[in-house]
Amino acid sequence: MIKIIKKKNYEEMSAYAAEMIAAQILLKPCCVLGLATGSTPLGTYSKLIEKYQAGLLDFAKVRSVNLDEYCGLSPEHDQSYHYYMKENLFSHINIDPDNTHVPNGMAQDMKAEGERYDALIASLGGIDLQLLGIGNTGHIGFNEPDSNFPTATHRVRLAQKTIEANSRFFASVDDVPKYAVTMGMTSIMSARKILLLANGVSKAEIIKKSFFDSVTPQVPASILQLHPDVTVVVDEEAGSLLP
Ligand code: PGA
Repeated sequence: MIKIIKKKNYEEMSAYAAEMIAAQILLKPCCVLGLATGSTPLGTYSKLIEKYQAGLLDFAKVRSVNLDEYCGLSPEHDQSYHYYMKENLFSHINIDPDNTHVPNGMAQDMKAEGERYDALIASLGGIDLQLLGIGNTGHIGFNEPDSNFPTATHRVRLAQKTIEANSRFFASVDDVPKYAVTMGMTSIMSARKILLLANGVSKAEIIKKSFFDSVTPQVPASILQLHPDVTVVVDEEAGSLLP
């Protein structure tokens, strides 16, 4: 079931998302959070850091698994998602670095890396709350439009539209990695709760397509219509085409 919550702006969307994540941690201090990268969750992470600094949240027992990582970027690369997570969240809170996990984009054998990552998620007991952004291709994680929904963690070729969208973080479009390793739909759909965030007018069309059209692997996020507990939080612009 999908619950859609419209907020006035990015600030309010982020505050709501941080409240949901904080509630999850208070309810189960050793919870497994599925985390996302990109521009969308930055405000949410700032609000979580503020709550931690105010003594309202304790991450000591929290475990985390990230959705994806670029292939070929080392954890020290400033555009890697390892680096992003450290910069934007982990280094500001009391999470144990040993309890944080991001797929290894440098693995030689991506099939083995996918199996390792899925086994790791299973060994943690699955994901309690999965945070998601959405790409303008409809991707969640880096699961791009395809003829079927990919299940396991796997290597994926990024859609040209994604490469172009993410080129804003690189010196040129040619510097954007062409491949990534991403959680598949099994781990995402097995999460007990899902929280998807979208802001800005560029997401309006894909939000409508994902949640008000049919379920199809051509719009990967549409699979969430089949999940029992999804909260979608949009700002006014991203929600502007919704009925
Ligand atoms: P964004 O990316 O948050 O930077 O818009 C979302 C995504 O690609 O999933």
